[in-house]
Amino acid sequence: SDRPKSLMESDVTLETFKSALDACHRCPIGDCATQGVPGEGPEGARLMVVGEQPGDQEDLAGRPFVGPAGRLFDACAEEAGLDRAQTYVTNAVKHFKFTPRGKRRLHQRPNAGEIKACRWWLDLERKAVRPKALLALGATAARALTGSGEAMTKRRGKVEEAEDGTPVLLSVHPAYLLRLRDAGQRAEARAAFVEDLRKAARLK
Ligand code: URA
Repeated sequence: SDRPKSLMESDVTLETFKSALDACHRCPIGDCATQGVPGEGPEGARLMVVGEQPGDQEDLAGRPFVGPAGRLFDACAEEAGLDRAQTYVTNAVKHFKFTPRGKRRLHQRPNAGEIKACRWWLDLERKAVRPKALLALGATAARALTGSGEAMTKRRGKVEEAEDGTPVLLSVHPAYLLRLRDAGQRAEARAAFVEDLRKAARLK
């Protein structure tokens, strides 16, 4: 590719991203997490999928979307004809934020300041990958990409714009589907999610 390997604003490249991320102190989340979790996927991917933050399993593996939410995403993506191997999959926040509860680590939502601090990393990934379209999974990703923290209820399924004009398709987070207890409701929400992924596949 004719793209410069070294990014204008820093010496960090996708190759050195992980070690730089592990040393990040832009916000306090990283102090408790096991490691930073960079995005994953081909550098020239046309679609970038952005989640919230690594979960318990992602924090241990050092890879995005490998736990329950990731498996659900993979299944829905396959149904929608969206090839994960051809997309760059990452998160708005790169470290796992949690509170310890006995042996368990309970997920905590990153706040607006933490999302803003981690934008530095997301922007680096966007400059290196240069996707044609973005898919925001949930309110945290939507805030990071559009600047608006408004609820997903009225926004999901719609296309907004990132500050540089890149189209951002908004959808719910797969973890939301996992939390729905009613089977009928869950099936309906899953079908709507697959429909959003189909739209994202057409955007790129
Ligand atoms: N949820 C996310 O938003 N990202 C992950 O990587 C895993 C779970």
